[in-house]
Amino acid sequence: MVNPWITAPLEDVKAYCNFYEFGTDKGDPGRYAHEMTVDPWSIEVTGEVHKPGKLNLEDILSGFDLEERVYRFRCVEAWSMVIPWVGFPLADLLQRFEPTGKARYVEFRTLYRRGEMRGTRSFTSIIDWPYREGLRMDEAMHPLTLMSVGLYGNTLPNQNGAPVRLVVPWKYGFKSIKSIVSIRLLEKQPGTSWEALNPREYGFYSNVNPEVNHPRWSQASERRLPSTLFKPNRIPTRMFNGYGEQVAHLYDGMDLSRYY
Ligand code: MTE
Repeated sequence: MVNPWITAPLEDVKAYCNFYEFGTDKGDPGRYAHEMTVDPWSIEVTGEVHKPGKLNLEDILSGFDLEERVYRFRCVEAWSMVIPWVGFPLADLLQRFEPTGKARYVEFRTLYRRGEMRGTRSFTSIIDWPYREGLRMDEAMHPLTLMSVGLYGNTLPNQNGAPVRLVVPWKYGFKSIKSIVSIRLLEKQPGTSWEALNPREYGFYSNVNPEVNHPRWSQASERRLPSTLFKPNRIPTRMFNGYGEQVAHLYDGMDLSRYY
């Protein structure tokens, strides 16, 4: 029996990563993300807001009430971890910039600095950089949607998206975009990196859903990390990653096999 609330050891969180800017191997971000400069840092907030502007890292770290949130984190590749994040609700940040009545979506972009991100220079690089993600406005304003600045009580390791990343616990991990430099509020649904790459395999919503399989593998179960060959820790995947009570109403009346 797998205890569903045992947090993944910090070493595993730092060593088993997806951060394609540094390479496609799970160990590449741990090996190379230290090459990214994270200070100074700022996030620009533009688009459908009354007060567009910039937040410096210092404003972010001192300007919001930080809290610890222990979340299940489920990757589309069918592995998962439980991680104690430090952060604050994205809604608190967005409200500061006063969204206009036209703001229906939010687009996020990751830093793109070729000199410091060897994965973006690689001939095997498949993404049209910068890495882009998006949420519907009600998803972005949901209290579970976290801007994370740390894990295990410390600042974020570079490979996990320093200095500030998104964590959306009911969606597949690729929605949780790392090292954010730009947030735009939009009237229309933005394009995202994975959707651009393969719209059949990676939809805009990407809510964790054991009933809608990835075209190349089942999503009915997941490997809870750390796991080994002898102790695979395979557990059933839960609808909305177990956060249905809090978020299912956002999708009332939507066909989730169509809006995957
Ligand atoms: N953000 C950026 N900028 N680049 C990436 O390659 N990978 C995503 C997401 N955010 C990714 C990203 C994917 S596929 C996953 S599963 C999570 O980050 C992994 O987060 P972790 O490495 O901290 O566990």
